[in-house]
Amino acid sequence: MAGPIPELEECATRCARRLAEADRVLLASHIDADGLTSAAIATQALERARIPFETVFEKQLDADAIAAIAATEYDTVLFTDFGSGQLDIISEYEADNAFTPVIADHHQPATIDDDGESVRVDTDYHLNPLLFGINGASELSGAGASYVLARALAAVADLPPDESIATDGGTTTAARADNRDLAALAVVGAVGDMQASGGELHGANAKIVAEGVDAGVLETGKDLALYGKQTRPLPKLLEYATDVHIPGISNDQNGALRFLDGLDLELKRDGEWRRWASLTNDEKQTVASALVRRAVSSGVPATKIDGLVSTAYVLPDEPVGTELRDASEFSTLLNATARYERADVGLGVCLGDRGEALERARKLLRDHRRNLSEGIDLVTQEGVTHEDHLQWFHAGDRIRETIVGIVAGMAMGNQGISRSKPIIAFADKDDEHVKVSARGTHSLVRNGLDLSVVVGEASRAVGGDGGGHDVAAGATVPKGDEDAFLERANAIVGEQLS
Ligand code: C5P
Ligand code: C5P
Ligand code: ZN
Repeated sequence: MAGPIPELEECATRCARRLAEADRVLLASHIDADGLTSAAIATQALERARIPFETVFEKQLDADAIAAIAATEYDTVLFTDFGSGQLDIISEYEADNAFTPVIADHHQPATIDDDGESVRVDTDYHLNPLLFGINGASELSGAGASYVLARALAAVADLPPDESIATDGGTTTAARADNRDLAALAVVGAVGDMQASGGELHGANAKIVAEGVDAGVLETGKDLALYGKQTRPLPKLLEYATDVHIPGISNDQNGALRFLDGLDLELKRDGEWRRWASLTNDEKQTVASALVRRAVSSGVPATKIDGLVSTAYVLPDEPVGTELRDASEFSTLLNATARYERADVGLGVCLGDRGEALERARKLLRDHRRNLSEGIDLVTQEGVTHEDHLQWFHAGDRIRETIVGIVAGMAMGNQGISRSKPIIAFADKDDEHVKVSARGTHSLVRNGLDLSVVVGEASRAVGGDGGGHDVAAGATVPKGDEDAFLERANAIVGEQLS
């Protein structure tokens, strides 16, 4: 099973039993790659367990969104990739018998003030790795929690043999019958939430990877740690790869071309540059060795060079050269849909629509890529403001609030943007509200940083609300209160890192 901790599985079984008892379920999920894959896993598990359901997506599960959910006829609501952080509100509806919540999430659970002490709110059907000593920011994502639930649902649903499953043959039949085939989506969700730190997935995520490999829906192996191995022409792959800066290649169009031309390989076919994924192992080896040599000779430190290789998560059923074959490219494709109000498109792709949904998603991806690169340029050119313990920028309406956090994270490490302080980004949400996104690094977290506390406390201090993870968090605050928010956040970060 996926959970290394028996209590996590017991909890999943309890949640699954509750779902199996329901006449029908309203599934509510979050609008990012992890939320979409969570929903795709949950919908397939519900469908296979023959539990009728309907799906809704929310940008943010705030009081209004929960009220709208409570106003529906559904008695059972399954929340995936959010819900824990809103248990203070959700539990009130539960107490009023508006609905029974079942939650598969990995965010920090809400706390309430009990006689001056902050205590966690809980509910009977709450599946969250953080309750079982598993790190929700790095060891299990929302999609991972949904996968653990799906596995439990297959076990408790006690189904008669399903003909559509039985005709598949071989390992696929068994993997579908116990929902192990859904492990690939769980890995896409975890990668989308940036849980592959230090180049690979850890802990409970690693167990899911092992189940996926076993079920034949995943392949893993050490590979070049660059984004775009499936779809980017080789020169672009190298030019745009900036996580490890290689002088004369990274951010250098002509440099990348010269480097490739200098190799004794046929890297063009019919006049077009090939993609990394289409190279033979020997060709890959030649390019990778030359890259490492170049990095060494230009003085890139050995620790950085190690970062050029990481574990790739490949979906072998998807065609070579498509976004869907690589977990990282797949997750970006999903963000390109859901963060632009087209969660339906992303969900369609996750559920196997390789026609209209995929075509639409690819169009959205082109826009998303452009928005990210323009956003990063904007922040890098205009710079950030440095306070003692954090740095910040305000994008106003120039970066979409749904991607400002991604931009902030990607800009860290660029000229003038430090990796030794967390970054806070603001973007307009509506006339009265501003979105806050905060990003840190794993090294800051090891030194005590917890952005979910920083952003939660500082936003509530100015009448907003927020939360998230230690390494990445977000909030909504009233427009005009940015300075007060920053002052408070700066003080809390200072305390955490002292
Ligand atoms: O809401 P959810 O948990 O799915 O989102 C997590 C967010 O945290 C993602 O936007 C992800 O990119 C971000 N993150 C990050 N750095 C990490 C881990 C997560 O920016 N190391
Ligand atoms: O929106 P952004 O990508 O910055 O979110 C970072 C993390 O903070 C995500 O895990 C998100 O779910 C969480 N978040 C939250 N409450 C908010 C906004 C974001 O828990 N109001
Ligand atoms: Zn998530």
